[in-house]
Amino acid sequence: MPLILETIVTTVAADGAVHLVPFGLIQDGEDFWVAPFRPSPTIANLEAVPFFAAAVPADIRVIAGCVTGRRDWATVPCRAIPVPRLAEAYGHMELQVVEVRDDPVRPRFRGRVMQAHAHRPFLGHNRAVNAVLEAAILSTRLHMLNPETVLAELHHHRIAVEKTAGPAEREAWNWIAAKVVAALPQAAAASLVVDDA
Ligand SMILES: Cc1cc2nc3c(=O)[nH]c(=O)nc-3n(C[C@H](O)[C@H](O)[C@H](O)COP(=O)(O)O)c2cc1C
Repeated sequence: MPLILETIVTTVAADGAVHLVPFGLIQDGEDFWVAPFRPSPTIANLEAVPFFAAAVPADIRVIAGCVTGRRDWATVPCRAIPVPRLAEAYGHMELQVVEVRDDPVRPRFRGRVMQAHAHRPFLGHNRAVNAVLEAAILSTRLHMLNPETVLAELHHHRIAVEKTAGPAEREAWNWIAAKVVAALPQAAAASLVVDDA
């Protein structure tokens, strides 16, 4: 199995509208594939404007926000491609689509890295950030997964949030917890929420 990097991918539509969404980039040598499930605005955008930026968010609320209806995050222009990137990022890559593999379920776009840049120091791993990342992914798959399994995994991840989160990570976690509580109204879902303090 190849390495997958979880990133914030930006694309633009033919009319210039920016679309920002979390995607796992699949490494293939020096290239990275982006593989959106249909239907997805990202597919039409990449067909119209075959470039994308992939950023590592410096605030995990960007990933949690994108999967809970909060997509209005600041972007700034890229250097080599006509697509902006997430502004608050540890780093980003600028990629050009060099191959398309069409598929009725999940087409794939091979991105060739034109430039890669670091923007701020990465000072340490944080377990709550990883927990929010896992929870965000789970929250996009609620319709495919067994609710008991999802809740068991989320209660496990919640421990890291309780122990290691700062205010931003707690807020991000609670956005996802609220989404899960709304989708899975079992008693066990309600206790996913963490205190704001
Ligand atoms: C970390 C992370 C990685 C994701 N990776 C993918 C992916 O590779 N392909 C995909 O279709 N959805 C992925 N998703 C789910 C999409 O972000 C989510 O379904 C989004 O709403 C789809 O965006 P779009 O349809 O507006 O383009 C991922 C979600 C998260 C949180």
